[in-house]
Amino acid sequence: MDILALCGSPRRNKTTSSVLQAVLDGTGRKHEILWPAFMNIGHCTGCRKCKHTTPGKCWQDDDMTMALDKMFEAKALIIASPTYFGNVPGPLKNFIDRSIPTCYTGKGEVWQGAENHGTRPFKGQPALLLTVSGGGDHEKTAANIRLVLEYYEYNIVGEFAEGMGGVVVTKEEFADIYNELLALGRKMDEALKTSAP
Ligand SMILES: Cc1cc2nc3c(=O)[nH]c(=O)nc-3n(C[C@H](O)[C@H](O)[C@H](O)COP(=O)(O)O)c2cc1C
Repeated sequence: MDILALCGSPRRNKTTSSVLQAVLDGTGRKHEILWPAFMNIGHCTGCRKCKHTTPGKCWQDDDMTMALDKMFEAKALIIASPTYFGNVPGPLKNFIDRSIPTCYTGKGEVWQGAENHGTRPFKGQPALLLTVSGGGDHEKTAANIRLVLEYYEYNIVGEFAEGMGGVVVTKEEFADIYNELLALGRKMDEALKTSAP
């Protein structure tokens, strides 16, 4: 698997997944899609055991154990999300919060020279940020996802943030948008050629 994609929508075959699928078509790469809304993921309890007691491991053994393995296996990440009140939906936020143990495995460089924040195993890996809304505030969602990707020091190679009004993108019906998304996927393919040849 080259690319791990997170689909933040709790609805299959709707706007977010259609946008993601067009981008994945463009990458032409082996990928896996995780849907946090259909996974068993407890919320982060903020206990810091993953930092101090069992470095890199959460005390909760749920679907995040498998998901973190996949994050380490992948060479690139795509986060695709709808806008819910100017942010990502709860299940995706849960996933993001529970990804914090990846900073404490000891893999990668120390973050900005401050050991207190652990290391960054995904530093420099290509990432894409895709977010849609009914019509507004997708920029806020994009900013929130950007923050996460920047914290992990992914290399953001492209973004798509649009008010889509519930449109499901197909190459037949929305050729312009489909081609724009295809091009984003190709950009990720190109980035992967240099970051993980
Ligand atoms: C709980 C909830 C909150 C939403 N909040 C916003 C919002 O703040 N701004 C907006 O433009 N659309 C909002 N929407 C609309 C969704 O972003 C939009 O319908 C999107 O296409 C849903 O993605 P999906 O089709 O992949 O499920 C919201 C929808 C729901 C269910």
